[in-house]
Amino acid sequence: GDSIDEECDYLFKAVLIGDSGVGKSNLLSRFSKDEFRLDSKPTIGVEFAYRNIKVADRIVKAQIWDTAGQERFRAITSSYYRGALGAILVYDISRRQSFENVRNWLRELREFGNLDMVIVLVGNKSDLSQSREVDEEEGKSFAEAEGLCFMETSALENVNVEQVFLVMISKIH
Ligand code: GTP
Ligand code: MG
Repeated sequence: GDSIDEECDYLFKAVLIGDSGVGKSNLLSRFSKDEFRLDSKPTIGVEFAYRNIKVADRIVKAQIWDTAGQERFRAITSSYYRGALGAILVYDISRRQSFENVRNWLRELREFGNLDMVIVLVGNKSDLSQSREVDEEEGKSFAEAEGLCFMETSALENVNVEQVFLVMISKIH
């Protein structure tokens, strides 16, 4: 397609999903432009960001889609997932309900996404250890049982954000 750089070996699409407020947009802005906002607004519709990333001597252009966790602000589900090779499913380690809802997001992913999609489960806001409501072990064992990769991150403190994308990309290619 005409959106691919000459220097880019691969272009791929990945999606971010998870409850409203878990930090999807901040994970993406941290990854794509090293920015974080404490006062970010809920996403409405769909946003994109690109970043070239080097994986095993190849330049991969990651096109990451970000949508609203809130049902009423969401874009059409089938087109959001179409063609996506990877998914980052995010919950907030300080909000139990966002972890409980991971099951619902997985159901949607498996209904609309590619069967062989690489899925990374992400427990974000690891900086909020004082108000933690989900143990790291619990996230990890849930991910193992479901065949997902797993990582805890902090978009605020820039912990593991790059690694999430790297793990996903290296599993795809
Ligand atoms: P929707 O667009 O409504 O689906 O929400 P979202 O998942 O995109 O959440 P967003 O990135 O807008 O972040 C929601 C709030 O959480 C904002 O106030 C962020 O500053 C905050 N936040 C995001 N990541 C972190 C983090 O790693 N640590 C802490 N402490 N706060 C975070
Ligand atoms: Mg958002």
